[in-house]
Amino acid sequence: MFERILLAVDGSEHALHATRKAAELTRCMKPKEFRIIVAYDPIPLYLGEPNMQIAITNRKGEAEEVLKMAVKEVGDLPCEVHTEIIEGDPASAIIEVATVRNSEVIVMGSRGLGRLAGLLLGSTSQKVVSHAPCPVLIVR
Ligand SMILES: Nc1ncnc2c1ncn2[C@@H]1O[C@H](COP(=O)(O)OP(=O)(O)O)[C@@H](O)[C@H]1O
Ligand SMILES: [Mg+2]
Repeated sequence: MFERILLAVDGSEHALHATRKAAELTRCMKPKEFRIIVAYDPIPLYLGEPNMQIAITNRKGEAEEVLKMAVKEVGDLPCEVHTEIIEGDPASAIIEVATVRNSEVIVMGSRGLGRLAGLLLGSTSQKVVSHAPCPVLIVR
């Protein structure tokens, strides 16, 4: 049913739950491809050099760590596993990758690293649910 599954992670506890569900789904569905995306917010130009390069290196490093943890968490999967680190607004990056890669389902957490505890759905998941080119599985 789902040949290409896209998992979005940000290093939060919610994303960890989403990662476990996405791995279960992948084991049941035996898709062709499982893809994990981490996006990091763009670095503002006004930082100037060398601060800008330092900030980019730090954010990329953090994103790589988040990705590594997710890859470890999913374990062995019965399909190809791909990863992407993208600079940009997370929701736009997730939608763009889902579109370009023809993802058939996006799996993500209901909340993330944001601190607005009252929200039922975080800002990234709200935007993705509203604009995604495919079904979205929001894990609570
Ligand atoms: N930078 C990101 N890269 C990839 N996925 C993300 C990113 N930020 C959030 N997500 C995904 O969206 C889910 C919901 O996060 P979000 O909507 O940002 O909540 P909050 O507003 O609490 O931060 C996360 O559990 C994760 O699956
Ligand atoms: Mg967030």
